[in-house]
Amino acid sequence: MGDVSHVIRALVTLSLVCALLCPVPSALAADRPHIILIVADDLGHNDVSFHGSDQIPTPNIDFLAYNGVLLNNYYVSPICTPTRSALLTGRHPIHTDLCFDVFMFLSNFSQQLLLNVAFEALLPLFLYLPFQAVHRANADGPHLQAPDKYVKRFEYIENHDRRMYAGEGTTLLLPGVKATLWEGGVRGVGLLHSPLLHTQGYVSEQMLHVCDWLPTLYAAAGGDPSTLHNLDGFNAWDMLSRNSSGVRTEMLHNIDPIEDFAGVRVGGYKLLIGDVGVDWGGWYPPYQLAGDEITLNYLNFTDDLTERVTQDSRRRELEQKYREYWGPEIWARLEDLHSSGGKTGADLVFNPEKSLGQVSSTNRDWVRGTPVRIECGVKPANASTNCDPRKSPCLFHIPTDPCEYNNIAESRPEVVTALFARIKEYVATMVSPGKKPNDARSNPKYHGGAWVPWE
Ligand SMILES: *[C@@H]1O[C@H](CO)[C@@H](O)[C@H](O)[C@H]1NC(C)=O
Ligand SMILES: *[C@@H]1O[C@H](CO)[C@@H](O)[C@H](O)[C@H]1NC(C)=O
Ligand SMILES: *[C@@H]1O[C@H](CO)[C@@H](O)[C@H](O)[C@H]1NC(C)=O
Ligand SMILES: *[C@@H]1O[C@H](CO)[C@@H](O)[C@H](O)[C@H]1NC(C)=O
Repeated sequence: MGDVSHVIRALVTLSLVCALLCPVPSALAADRPHIILIVADDLGHNDVSFHGSDQIPTPNIDFLAYNGVLLNNYYVSPICTPTRSALLTGRHPIHTDLCFDVFMFLSNFSQQLLLNVAFEALLPLFLYLPFQAVHRANADGPHLQAPDKYVKRFEYIENHDRRMYAGEGTTLLLPGVKATLWEGGVRGVGLLHSPLLHTQGYVSEQMLHVCDWLPTLYAAAGGDPSTLHNLDGFNAWDMLSRNSSGVRTEMLHNIDPIEDFAGVRVGGYKLLIGDVGVDWGGWYPPYQLAGDEITLNYLNFTDDLTERVTQDSRRRELEQKYREYWGPEIWARLEDLHSSGGKTGADLVFNPEKSLGQVSSTNRDWVRGTPVRIECGVKPANASTNCDPRKSPCLFHIPTDPCEYNNIAESRPEVVTALFARIKEYVATMVSPGKKPNDARSNPKYHGGAWVPWE
């Protein structure tokens, strides 16, 4: 290439955010890149093969991650709208009155429209690509919708909802689901891919929050983030592009003054107070078996269910089936992706033409990487009972206990006190939530199927 133009692709999730920065023809673009920001809202931690999923192979996304920066400590808000607002404003939802429950369901599956977007932009482009899949759809139709030809690829997944994708985002291993402050509700899937990265093909363990994208991408595009005011986000461009030291030491997960709960992370420690989603806590195995949506219903979930021997062995059989189903060609590509010690470099070019199974053997070198799996460690017998944040604060050390097995509040009272004080400081800066009753007039059915301002 050799010109000054580039693409940055960022992919944000449970909300996946993928930032991709690509070359722009030099004479026109000066030194500003194209930026493509892809959001796949509700994609769960275990819904990509670069996190080790063997149920849903995602080789093209894996390619971008392995040859970019794989964000392993990337956090979002537990629900969609606050995440999207933080992304677009660079401000934490407690500062934009969106820190409470906001639910917005999307209308019929319209992924195809987005997939058909193509661009040939001469001037630097910022493309925000918020996919509607894998988010659930409106309650007045099937919640999970997908074209038959895609569903057919997953015939080996017995569970209907999971097959339709993705039982609303499984977070395998991490406790909790969307809308909770457990790791399963806030730890996203993230990657950054660009030839502008000075260091690539590495896993970033630095904390990154969804509100950091705005100043980060602004800096990547040549802007000076210090001219942006009232941001809660940090400019992480140098950190990510050079694998340099972290820009944040703490992260507010949320404070919900209506439901009265909060969660904060300072250094490695995370404090949870109030009903952060206790009924939706627990550790969910991925939906696989036909009856999983009933027996693993979060309202009566117990660890017991996952440990039933017959179910466990049935799941293992299914895992074997995945491999057989995909066949040697696709599996070989996944094995390539998963083989360690891969070589990457700044001259790599992403080729979207090379979809599943089409990589020639001579080209295999450029798709290597090792899935980054979460290692939970040993689950103590009291894992399900040692924390009830409705009764007293729970404290976890996330780097050594990412699955929130060990509540250490009792043995580290001074850390509990310090983190609690930090929450109080955040409370002092909050704006009151602008919670209003639903207004039926907002329904897209009155506005040609689109979400628009309605008054
Ligand atoms: C959405 O999907 C449902 C069920 O598939 C269908 O009945 C309805 O007509 C669709 N609505 C639109 C606006 O396409
Ligand atoms: C990135 O930085 C970490 C921490 O300093 C270091 O361990 C790792 O080797 C670096 N990786 C690359 C590819 O530079
Ligand atoms: C709980 O699990 C049982 C099966 O063990 C199931 O019948 C029931 O519908 C589940 N859900 C609730 C909300 O009780
Ligand atoms: C849970 O069990 C572990 C031993 O496995 C023990 O060290 C810890 O104190 C227990 N936690 C609570 C809160 O009881």
